[in-house]
Amino acid sequence: MLFLFIITILQQLLISKQCQIFDQQILLGNYYTNNGATLAIIYFKSHGLCDKQIKINLIKLRYESVNIDGIYYLNTATIESSMQIKFNHDYYITLEDMQLLLRLPKKYGKEPISIAEFEGSFQLINNKSILNVPAFDMIKSINVESIHLILINGCDIGNILKNLQKKIGKWTILIGRYACKTRLQHLKYDKYIQIQENQQVTLIQTKQKQQSNYVKIDIFNLNDNQFKYDYYLNDELIKQELVIKNTIEKNNSETDCQPYGQRISLGYYYTNYNNSNELINIAYNTLSYCPSGFLHIYDNKSVDQWVSLSEIRTLNMSQIYEDTSYNFTYVTYINIASLNNSILPYQGQIYYYKIYGDANSESLAYQFKVPLKEYDNQIHKMIFFGDMDSNWTGNKSKETFDWFQSIQSNQSDYDVLIFEGDMAYNLESLDCQQGDWWLRNMSTFSGYYPLLATPGNHDSGKNNEYDFYRISFLSPELDLNTRDNFYNFYSVDLGLVHYIFYNPKNIVYNESNQTEIDYMVKIMENDLLQATKNREQVPWIIVNSHFPMYCSNETDAMCSYNFIALKPFAELFSQYGVAIYMSAHQHNYERDAPFINNQSQINTGLITDGPEQHLIMNSAAPVYIIEGSAGQEYYTPLVPYPQQPYTIYQTGYNDGIGILYVYNETHLYFEQIDLIEKKVVDYVWVVQIRGINEEKTFNILLWIILALALILTIGLVIYYIMRRQMIKEKLLN
Ligand SMILES: *[C@@H]1O[C@H](CO)[C@@H](O)[C@H](O)[C@H]1NC(C)=O
Ligand SMILES: *[C@@H]1O[C@H](CO)[C@@H](O)[C@H](O)[C@H]1NC(C)=O
Ligand SMILES: *[C@@H]1O[C@H](CO)[C@@H](O)[C@H](O)[C@H]1NC(C)=O
Ligand SMILES: *[C@@H]1O[C@H](CO)[C@@H](O)[C@H](O)[C@H]1NC(C)=O
Ligand SMILES: *[C@@H]1O[C@H](CO)[C@@H](O)[C@H](O)[C@H]1NC(C)=O
Ligand SMILES: *[C@@H]1O[C@H](CO)[C@@H](O)[C@H](O)[C@H]1NC(C)=O
Ligand SMILES: *[C@@H]1O[C@H](CO)[C@@H](O)[C@H](O)[C@H]1NC(C)=O
Ligand SMILES: *[C@@H]1O[C@H](CO)[C@@H](O)[C@H](O)[C@H]1NC(C)=O
Ligand SMILES: *[C@@H]1O[C@H](CO)[C@@H](O)[C@H](O)[C@H]1NC(C)=O
Ligand SMILES: *[C@@H]1O[C@H](CO)[C@@H](O)[C@H](O)[C@H]1NC(C)=O
Ligand SMILES: *[C@@H]1O[C@H](CO)[C@@H](O)[C@H](O)[C@H]1NC(C)=O
Ligand SMILES: *[C@@H]1O[C@H](CO)[C@@H](O)[C@H](O)[C@H]1NC(C)=O
Repeated sequence: MLFLFIITILQQLLISKQCQIFDQQILLGNYYTNNGATLAIIYFKSHGLCDKQIKINLIKLRYESVNIDGIYYLNTATIESSMQIKFNHDYYITLEDMQLLLRLPKKYGKEPISIAEFEGSFQLINNKSILNVPAFDMIKSINVESIHLILINGCDIGNILKNLQKKIGKWTILIGRYACKTRLQHLKYDKYIQIQENQQVTLIQTKQKQQSNYVKIDIFNLNDNQFKYDYYLNDELIKQELVIKNTIEKNNSETDCQPYGQRISLGYYYTNYNNSNELINIAYNTLSYCPSGFLHIYDNKSVDQWVSLSEIRTLNMSQIYEDTSYNFTYVTYINIASLNNSILPYQGQIYYYKIYGDANSESLAYQFKVPLKEYDNQIHKMIFFGDMDSNWTGNKSKETFDWFQSIQSNQSDYDVLIFEGDMAYNLESLDCQQGDWWLRNMSTFSGYYPLLATPGNHDSGKNNEYDFYRISFLSPELDLNTRDNFYNFYSVDLGLVHYIFYNPKNIVYNESNQTEIDYMVKIMENDLLQATKNREQVPWIIVNSHFPMYCSNETDAMCSYNFIALKPFAELFSQYGVAIYMSAHQHNYERDAPFINNQSQINTGLITDGPEQHLIMNSAAPVYIIEGSAGQEYYTPLVPYPQQPYTIYQTGYNDGIGILYVYNETHLYFEQIDLIEKKVVDYVWVVQIRGINEEKTFNILLWIILALALILTIGLVIYYIMRRQMIKEKLLN
């Protein structure tokens, strides 16, 4: 027994002699990174086993040794927050014959600190104590002396964002060698200190590294509003800066930046302007002014973009109605991000996005498809609906909302949603709460599919200026969407169809003068002319408006008067071969025969398949459809109305939507779905055997005949000459 004891002692003496410490350092513990219990780790390697105890002043600390591949020992001793270690107090740690200085910073103190960087490794220097930041791949954040330091080794913006959200201290300072500063602009932080780059270039041919730089930054937390830093490069002071807290950010911390009412719309690219700088716009509301909002757009492959806001609009109703007797108080902010083709490089593809009202207010993930502008030989589907309540008290639009919820992740099924006006009943009711509910609830569909809308009479506002509508919803033709010009005319091309949107409210309510009508007709004609020039690529035209051309309530001026009031438009629609005129306003679904001036076109070449007219072939006028049954509680009509000469089909009062299938250049198919009964209640094929094609076929035939005639003539001539020659020869013989 005694013998064994002696041996052990001897062994230990021997071991201590061979210990040979190297690579000793202090690592910063997880107390500073994620609220862990470890303040620091003392870390060293040794060639032999060392005495299992180290002293920190009077505190004795045991450590763990692990043998690495029989070559050396890795020794670690953990300093936990439960030990009686004082912050900002110098402790000397004795390791064999050397000493390490430990001085731990406070998390929420105000002492100056330094950060040093060399080849992507960071050190925190607290007075003379050097605390290494444990190795990391991209991003590491530490909280010291009321400063949240985010150390960057690569532009992993998502990771930086996650770290920003963990903000604890008064100041957020980003430090990194990488030039991701521009990509971080929309994030909220106080300072990005970029480490001078150029020196760390690896020369490819020689595989020689140029000399790296040692950077040290001393940070002085002056007070809640200011800090100062000194920047040293290889021990030479090269920069000093005083940073003053941005006051806008201060306000933001007390406000509500939770995004709501997200809606996707098509940009200028889909119009005649064909401007790929603006493909898609995504708008969302916030109750506070949140200029640091941004979007994260990504796909499964290569797209991973962080987009800042391009515009913030304020909808201040008390300002709009300042000089009136209305008592509006509603204020909301409309935040718009414009997405170009470098952000969305692939059309026809599905992208995901998240909205950050600010770095701490994150939305759910949504997805959408960028619709193809140009035809790809596939069938494309569009959804049409109109007259829809925000929710109101009786849930009349509930089936429509529910149905939209069921298609939330089927972006490959439908290209866009087309809304034919009258939202929320009304946008401005209840000090705009009705409109605010509509925005909140509509993201069920508008957050997933681009929404193309045209305003209805209920969207015009108490002042008839469409302020809520215009400011909240984007239209790709801004110049026609102003307060003076609330006709809100625009048109877009999607595949084989040119869609026109116009708002003739003043005309159908007999509130406009001839100048106004002429102007509107001119705009329409110009657009139709443009569309005609592009007819080979885009053969179909569909016109959308809230206001019907025909409908069946004969005591309603909208039905008995509109085809007269809108006659100049109707004439253009026949002249330019508009296929479908979609509208709403009446609170049901109705399909009318393609009448011209209230006359059936029996003798104009229209081919149909009987009284139900499920086939409309070679029509000289559009098929008129009313799509006003998405669900509202403003007025419930006693439908169906009495049959009119043009009435083909009417539903009762039920929730419903229409789906258009664009098959090809000769065939369109439309069906109406009753969302309560969940079935197709009406359908129509619109077929155009196009004149251009007939002409082409005819021309080809003509050319073939001509060519045959020519060959025949030449043949005959040759035959005649040869025959003459033969006769001649015969005679000579
Ligand atoms: C270190 O602390 C001493 C006193 O404790 C102080 O005089 C000195 O300025 C400090 N140095 C740095 C670099 O903070
Ligand atoms: C933020 O608050 C400061 C005063 O605290 C004020 O001067 C500034 O205008 C506010 N900024 C915004 C955007 O409200
Ligand atoms: C629209 O622009 C794209 C390039 O951005 C081009 O490929 C396309 O041909 C243009 N289309 C028309 C109709 O001008
Ligand atoms: C809204 O407008 C009113 C009246 O002009 C003004 O007093 C108020 O400060 C505005 N509110 C905001 C948030 O802009
Ligand atoms: C606006 O408020 C005033 C005072 O509270 C009230 O007399 C007036 O009737 C209100 N106007 C409307 C349109 O509600
Ligand atoms: C596309 O949008 C991004 C973000 O708004 C912008 O940085 C970039 O310059 C734009 N690209 C083009 C080609 O306009
Ligand atoms: C992305 O990946 C997920 C899961 O792998 C898949 O369900 C989804 O359909 C993919 N989306 C796209 C746009 O490819
Ligand atoms: C309407 O929808 C909004 C937003 O979802 C909700 O806050 C509100 O309570 C709903 N109102 C009614 C009457 O159902
Ligand atoms: C409307 O729907 C909400 C939520 O589903 C429900 O709480 C409420 O009772 C419904 N209202 C009516 C009148 O059906
Ligand atoms: C016609 O109406 C417009 C818009 O309301 C107005 O600006 C214009 O002065 C009117 N013109 C005539 C001739 O009344
Ligand atoms: C037809 O329209 C008139 C005028 O708007 C209205 O009074 C009437 O109730 C409507 N008829 C039905 C059946 O809704
Ligand atoms: C167009 O689609 C219809 C319906 O599928 C089909 O019958 C017709 O043959 C197609 N025409 C062409 C030119 O592809």
